[in-house]
Amino acid sequence: MSSIEEIKARLDILDVVSETVQLKRSGKSYTGFCPFHANTRTPSFVVWPDSGVWKCFGACNEGGDIFKFVMKRDGLDFADALKALAEKAGVTLRPPTAFEEAQREEHEAMRGLLEEAVSFYRKHLRQPAGKAALDYLHGRGLTDETIALFELGYAPAGWDNLLKYFTEQGRTEQELLEAGLLSERDKGGVYDRFRHRIMFPIRDERGRMAGFGARALNPDDVPKYLNSPQTPVFDKSALLYGLDKARKPIREKDQVVIVEGYMDVIAPVQAGFTNLVSPMGTALTEAQLKLLKRLTRRMVLALDADAAGANATLRGLNVARNTLDREADPTFNARGLVSFEGRLQADIRVTTLPDGQDPDEVVQKDRAQWEALIAAAKPVVEHVMETLAAGQNLDDAKIKTDIAAQVMPLIRDVPSAIERDTYIQKLARLIRVDERTLMQEAGMRATGQRPPVKRQPAQRGASAPAVEERSPASAAANSIAKLEGHILSVILRQPELLYKIDRALQESGLTRIAAQDFQLTNHQVTFGLALESLEQDHTEPLNFAMENLPLPLFDMVDDFLEDSEDLDPAADRVLEDLLRAILQLRLKHLRQSSDQLRFLQEAAHELGDLKATQYAQTLLQITRNLDLINRALGRFGNVSIAIH
Ligand code: UTP
Ligand code: MN
Repeated sequence: MSSIEEIKARLDILDVVSETVQLKRSGKSYTGFCPFHANTRTPSFVVWPDSGVWKCFGACNEGGDIFKFVMKRDGLDFADALKALAEKAGVTLRPPTAFEEAQREEHEAMRGLLEEAVSFYRKHLRQPAGKAALDYLHGRGLTDETIALFELGYAPAGWDNLLKYFTEQGRTEQELLEAGLLSERDKGGVYDRFRHRIMFPIRDERGRMAGFGARALNPDDVPKYLNSPQTPVFDKSALLYGLDKARKPIREKDQVVIVEGYMDVIAPVQAGFTNLVSPMGTALTEAQLKLLKRLTRRMVLALDADAAGANATLRGLNVARNTLDREADPTFNARGLVSFEGRLQADIRVTTLPDGQDPDEVVQKDRAQWEALIAAAKPVVEHVMETLAAGQNLDDAKIKTDIAAQVMPLIRDVPSAIERDTYIQKLARLIRVDERTLMQEAGMRATGQRPPVKRQPAQRGASAPAVEERSPASAAANSIAKLEGHILSVILRQPELLYKIDRALQESGLTRIAAQDFQLTNHQVTFGLALESLEQDHTEPLNFAMENLPLPLFDMVDDFLEDSEDLDPAADRVLEDLLRAILQLRLKHLRQSSDQLRFLQEAAHELGDLKATQYAQTLLQITRNLDLINRALGRFGNVSIAIH
């Protein structure tokens, strides 16, 4: 569920509207006096809680969803309304990253420069001086196709190849330095940061260039891997290598595998396992896990034996390395993982690789073994207890105590009582002690209850009811949202269709397609985006327009684009289908309005409200429109018209 949907599921539009409007129930809808214009005697403002929309049939003749209401009421734009309602709903929007904050233009320029650096390094991989690098990559089993897919490159040996090339292109040293492509001498002066290294471009989850990882070709060069320094667009702790390509596979498989290195992402992808990402030599951070959580709740850490074996802190993915570019990171240890799992309802498992092997090696040797290893991944707590117990003398009372002391705190952090009980039983069996003794020792009551001191922060903060407790959105709301989504996914992919659609609609006596055709505010905003991209004089206008989107919207647009990926732009039927969908959508809206209008008209009539005449006129217009739409629908193929 997207944050937008989650907010809608958690908040009741009636509650929000009722903050400022007194509503009265009438059948399936609620009516009140419109807060946006001066009112006469009868209410003209209607809220349909089932579909989560509202509409004013009076002077303003406006409507929309909960976002639109708050935007109008509080004078906010969509991004701010989103923030406000997210807070109210207890939904955490991913905090705006450095990218989204100020200086967007500077970031864009920096990304543009990095993009050129990618080409620079790729070009050098194919030059005579890059032969050693290319041989090395081939030697590690990578095909040219894979090398191209990951845009691998070669940073030539020498101190100023890149510096010279880019300054000749008119770039300043300052720019290159800020983008992390140069290093600075203590005494002043600059030189190429990456020399005689294999270059791994690192992109953010949207595919925008962020920085580089660079592997030494010469075994004596340290560090083995040198990354870009922290820059405004490169924050290692918030990026995951490979995520730009893995997004879709992760969603499709509903699982992500987290590995430790660049090569461990690339080799499995070449072998057809595409749902992989890796951090870049730093501890796995909560920010990274949250990025993943938007795609799947099922996460598997594939740790090498060393890391997994190391003292239950799961140092793995936090392997302390003597690298020059290592910053101090907060350790994300087993305890952190378990608490994250609980708070975000993720399912985190760990699998241990055979001694001394990387995923890279395992996959290249034996695909089946790789699959088996992933399938055998165990929950963090189990993994920790088994690792601790491995090779130990479990008859030794001190060792038992030590293991229990390390595992029990983890178990206590597990939110599910059933899971807790199961782990306690397992631990008891493993170290052969009585369950009750274990619990006593850990200060837990016999049912495996958590002591009251240990509350999960998220449970304290969330006043909103859990999503499951709410009645599911009505079928009507769903079908409108689906229809709108379908229309948008086609329009976003082929915005130029809009011209043809408008012509066809106008030929049928209907108005052009407009943002108001969409009930959901996020859809209206997205439609605006398609319009904007039509006006942009850019090679990839949509990408350009998307740069500026708030992230939840970006995700939505991204989903739409995925939905229409297989669309054949040449097919005649695309336009026809699209027109039909638009007409169906209008039908649905008009039906909804006319039912309501009849009701309002009666009420107004009874009270002698002048609005009765106005309503009657609107109704007449709606009837005319319905007629036109039905006729148009008849023209675009013999579709059965499903209303309601
Ligand atoms: P490894 O040392 O396990 O390297 O580091 P690797 O991925 O197996 O590399 P190959 O197979 O020898 O080429 C794992 C990851 O840790 C980070 C890198 O992200 C690397 O992929 N790392 C490692 C650094 O950031 N700096 C280093 O000096 C070493
Ligand atoms: Mn390796």
